[in-house]
Amino acid sequence: MTFDGCYAKMLPRCRYRRASGLLSVAFFVFIVFQIIVLNSQKTVQTVESSSDIKEGRRLFGENTQDDQISSLFSHPADSTVLVSYVYKMIKLPSGADYNLTYPHLQDFARGQCQIIDEYLNKTENGYFVEIGVLDGERHSVSLFFERERNWNGLVIEPHPEHYNQLLHKNRKSSTLQACVKTNHTETKKEYKISDQHYFIPCLWMETILMASGHRNIDLLAINVKSKEYDILQSIPFDKFDIKTLSIEFTKGSDSEMDIIKYLTSQGFRAQHEFANHLVKKSDLVFVKN
Ligand SMILES: *[C@@H]1O[C@H](CO)[C@@H](O)[C@H](O)[C@H]1NC(C)=O
Ligand SMILES: *[C@@H]1O[C@H](CO)[C@@H](O)[C@H](O)[C@H]1NC(C)=O
Ligand SMILES: *[C@@H]1O[C@H](CO)[C@@H](O)[C@H](O)[C@H]1NC(C)=O
Repeated sequence: MTFDGCYAKMLPRCRYRRASGLLSVAFFVFIVFQIIVLNSQKTVQTVESSSDIKEGRRLFGENTQDDQISSLFSHPADSTVLVSYVYKMIKLPSGADYNLTYPHLQDFARGQCQIIDEYLNKTENGYFVEIGVLDGERHSVSLFFERERNWNGLVIEPHPEHYNQLLHKNRKSSTLQACVKTNHTETKKEYKISDQHYFIPCLWMETILMASGHRNIDLLAINVKSKEYDILQSIPFDKFDIKTLSIEFTKGSDSEMDIIKYLTSQGFRAQHEFANHLVKKSDLVFVKN
């Protein structure tokens, strides 16, 4: 199976290709022209949709009965075919200058960065993965390490509008538009934004970390709404060397003790807790024992 061609049956050019036994050059040019015209019309109609969102719509469009895509995402988390597909979904940084709203701010994460930075002895050139990074600036834990310590990383955000904003920040890290899969979630998540439906794939943490190509991760930051425990449980900690973890969770949910117990059993200790009573949220920093 190849994943760069006509596996998505709903692609118009694939239907044409299958229907017509013979593909003349003229016909091909005509189709390419059609696609260009179609795409440019789409861009005009939906100003906020980036090329990635279109990609997402193409792969997970509402009219999809595409068994191949569904079966791809139900492969085991560590399957080569799935990991290499996700690797291709990762978008490299643009190389353009930062376009931040608050360029003078250093720590967007309520003091967590300093705690982690001190624990890691101000390590330069580390590697981070941040899940649920929103626009990549507000609340981002990893931005400090990217700017001040020259770290590299992968930031992940499923929401189409936030992901689009993230791309405009020109972070120096790779980005991935995906949600995180657990035993309790589907293989894709639907977003409805001004009458448009977006279907974003949900991936196992193991798949994401393998696709990042890094086994040594200095910081894993998780900022998801009350799925932290499920997500942490799905991480194979024996396969990756994760030095520090930053987790945001909603205060008062019973997952706080569960998270501490679970991560302690995985060889971590809680290093810092910051309780934000106003928004009923806490940040926890865990470090490897
Ligand atoms: C930071 O430096 C101290 C003192 O040199 C050392 O004991 C410690 O292991 C270092 N921490 C890490 C995470 O490398
Ligand atoms: C910078 O970000 C703003 C939104 O904060 C956006 O409107 C603008 O297009 C961005 N500029 C560039 C060059 O990406
Ligand atoms: C998810 O379900 C599978 C199969 O039922 C099970 O083996 C695995 O331990 C579960 N994982 C978690 C994190 O609960």
